[in-house]
Amino acid sequence: MTVEVTLSIIKPDAVHKNYIGEIISRFEKDGLRVAALKMLVFSRQQFLGIYGGHEGRPYFEDLTAFMASGPSVVMVLESEQAVARNRAIMGHTNPKLAAPGTIRADLGTATNRNAVHGSDSTETAQREIACLFSSEEIRTLGG
Ligand code: PPS
Repeated sequence: MTVEVTLSIIKPDAVHKNYIGEIISRFEKDGLRVAALKMLVFSRQQFLGIYGGHEGRPYFEDLTAFMASGPSVVMVLESEQAVARNRAIMGHTNPKLAAPGTIRADLGTATNRNAVHGSDSTETAQREIACLFSSEEIRTLGG
């Protein structure tokens, strides 16, 4: 099976609630490896790189304010089937519909305060990672 990378964001709600270690621990216990990591407050350009596709949606202004409201932790995660694995660990976008034991069910509170983001495909992952990391910042097992 192919080793993939995916982008994970621990969003401002989860950072504010002191869940950084809890969330990273869940990823590591389920076989995802942190290949890059940093804390940042999203710039407008970085925000649009990740969420620009949602522009025009009714929740876009709230999402914009939320992602600028405090620091996020952004990570490159690596494993076999990293995209699907990350999304399974995160659970449904709406924490109220997420399966018990998933990050969003346990640590999120609403669709617009759902603790984590994860890329939805390998193509999206490549694009999102390039918005936030230079190649020198990423240390995959391959190099
Ligand atoms: S959708 O509705 O199919 O576009 O949903 P999805 O692709 O899962 O991503 C939605 C992201 O926007 C954030 N967000 C909201 N979505 C829906 N409704 C409301 N009110 C809303 N507010 C914010 C949601 O958290 C998803 O962000 P990510 O980071 O991708 O989970």
